Amino acid sequence: MCGIVAYIGPKEAYPLLMKGLQRLEYRGYDSAGVALFNGDIRVYKKKGKVQELADYVSTLSYEGTMGIGHTRWATHGEPDDINAHPHFSGNRRLVLVHNGIIENYDVLKKALEKEGHHFESQTDTEVLVHLIEEIQTRENLPLEEAVRVALTRVVGAYAIVVMDKQEPGKLVGARKASPLVIGIGEGEYFLASDATPLIEHTKKVIYLNDQEIAVVERNGDLQIKKIDSNEVQTPFIHELDMEIEALEKGGYDYFMLKEIYEQPDTIADAMRGRINPRENWVRLGGLEKIYEQIANAQRFIIAACGTSWHSGLIGEYLIEDLARIPVEVEYASELRYRNPIITDKDVVIAISQSGETADTLAAVELAKEKGALVYGIVNVVGSSIARATDSGSYIHAGPEIGVASTKAFTGQVTLLTLMALDLAQRRGEISETRFQELLTEFKNIPDKVQKVLEKNQQIKYIAGEIQDKPNALYLGRGYNFPVALEGALKLKEISYIHAEGYPAAEMKHGPIALIDEQMPVIVIATNRSAYDKIVSNIQEVKARKGIVIAIVTEGDETISHIADHTIEIPDTEEPFTPLLSVIPLQLLSYYIAVMRGCNVDQPRNLAKSVTVE
Ligand code: F6R
Repeated sequence: MCGIVAYIGPKEAYPLLMKGLQRLEYRGYDSAGVALFNGDIRVYKKKGKVQELADYVSTLSYEGTMGIGHTRWATHGEPDDINAHPHFSGNRRLVLVHNGIIENYDVLKKALEKEGHHFESQTDTEVLVHLIEEIQTRENLPLEEAVRVALTRVVGAYAIVVMDKQEPGKLVGARKASPLVIGIGEGEYFLASDATPLIEHTKKVIYLNDQEIAVVERNGDLQIKKIDSNEVQTPFIHELDMEIEALEKGGYDYFMLKEIYEQPDTIADAMRGRINPRENWVRLGGLEKIYEQIANAQRFIIAACGTSWHSGLIGEYLIEDLARIPVEVEYASELRYRNPIITDKDVVIAISQSGETADTLAAVELAKEKGALVYGIVNVVGSSIARATDSGSYIHAGPEIGVASTKAFTGQVTLLTLMALDLAQRRGEISETRFQELLTEFKNIPDKVQKVLEKNQQIKYIAGEIQDKPNALYLGRGYNFPVALEGALKLKEISYIHAEGYPAAEMKHGPIALIDEQMPVIVIATNRSAYDKIVSNIQEVKARKGIVIAIVTEGDETISHIADHTIEIPDTEEPFTPLLSVIPLQLLSYYIAVMRGCNVDQPRNLAKSVTVE
C-alpha cells in the first residue's frame, strides 16, 4: 500500500526521492507525488506510475535538498492528481504525506470547515494537514509540537512525514499502526515506509515504534518522543542485513519469476542452522525460549491473511499430524472482530510475509490482551508484527517484491514443518527412527524443488493451452487442499482469471456443476494417502469433459492415462508434498499472466503490504 520516502541532507533530494519511489512501487499504488523545498515548497503529483510523474517533472524545476515523496493506494477518494499526496495545508506553509486511514476525518473536517478551512481533495490526509496548521497557528507551536498535539486528536492508523517552509531545517515523522523507518546516512537522514529505498544509502536504521514522533534535522540532531506523553525515547539503531542485489531483477523479466526460482535457496536458508539429520535434531531458537509455555498450551490458533493463511492451514495439518496439538486457523480479519475465546492457555501463531498486515497485527494485539502467548512467523526483519510478538522465527526469504507471494509461502511452510517436527520430538509424539527418516528427507526438499523448476517448459506449454479459459478449478486433498487454494489465488491475482480452490471430495457438493469442456481442473494427485479417491475425482471430471491438469508423483502411470496433462514431481513424504506441489502452480499462473499481457509484479488493485483494514 502507500509508500513514503523523505530526505534531508546536503544532496539534491529529487533524484533520491524518485529512486526511492521506484523501490516502493512493489507495495502497490495508483498515483505518486513529491514535494521539494528550495526557499518555497513546490508539489508535483500525478495519477499513474512513478514514470509518469518523472515525465511530468522533467520539464519543471526540481532543485532542493529536502523533500518528501509518496506513492498512493487510494482509500478515500479516487486515484487522481488532486487526491495524490503530498497535501498542502490551507496556508501553503505545510506539506504532508500519509500512509493509513484517519477514521475520524469526517468529524475533524466539519470542525475545521467551521473555522474557515477549505479542502481541495476528498482525502482524509488533507484533513490532517489542516488540523496541524490550525493547531500550529492558533497555539503558535513549533512544527513537531503542532504535529504531536494534532495526532492526539486523531483516531486511526498513520505513518506521516511533514515539512514546514518556515522551519526548513527539519522533517517530522510519526507512526501509529503503520510502519516508518529512519535511515541514518553521512550528514543526512531518510524516512521511509520500509527499508527498500534506504538500502543503497545506508544500513543504519531506526524502526519507529508505535505512537512515536521523530524530528530529524539538517544539523544532525535526531529526537524521538512518545506522542501521548511527550516523553523522550532512546533510539535503537539496527544494522540492515540486506544487499542491493536482492532488490534487482537479476536478469529475470519479473521479480515473481526470480522469486519462484530462488526457492531452492530460500527454503535451504529457512532450514539453515535449524536442522541436523545426522545428530537427529531440529531447533527453532524462538521456540526454545518459550518451550515450557508452548508445551502446556491447550491449543494453537494460527492467524493470518491471504497466502499466509494458506500456509497456516498447512501448519494445522502438520502440527496436528506430527505434534498432536489441536490447531485452529483463523483469518486475522475475522478473529479480531468476532469476540473469540482466547485464554492464557492458548498459543497464537501470527504468520505474515510483510509483518505489517493491519488485520494480523490487530489479531496479535488482541491475543496479547487476552493473555495468550504470541509467536510470529515473519519475513521482514524489524517489522511491526515481528516486534509485537512474544517470540518468533524469521523465514529469511529476503525481500519479496512481486506482489504475488511465492518464496514467502514456501518459507512459511518450511518454518511450520520445522516447528511441527521440533514439537513432535520434544513431546515424544514420534519415534526416533521416524523422526530421523523425516529429517533426512526434509533436507532433500531444496534439491527436489530445483527438479520441479526444471519442468518449466512443459508448464509453459500447458499455460498456453488454457490461457484463454475464463475459469479454473483447483482440487487437492489433505496436505494439498491448502495448495489448491493457493494455486487458485495465484491465478486470480495476476491473470484476473476467476479460479476456485476446493477439497477434491467437496467437488460433488456443488462445483461439479461448473464442469464442461471449457473448464480446466488442476488436480494435485500425489501418490500417498487417498490416492485412489483422487483418481476417482479425476474420472468424475473427465466424465464431464473437463480439462484435467494433474500434478502427480514421478512414475505415476494411472493418472497419465486419464488426465489431459500430467506434471511429475519427485516423490517425498506426505507432509512435505506442499513444498513441491505448489511450484508448478506458481509457474502455471506466472506463464498464463505473461501470455495474457498482465503486469505480473504489480497486478491491478493489489498492494504488497495491506496496512489498512
Ligand atoms: C497473495 C498475497 C496476499 C498476502 C496477504 C498477507 O499472493 O501476497 O494474499 O499473503 O496480503 O500478507 P502478509 O503475509 O504480508 O501478512
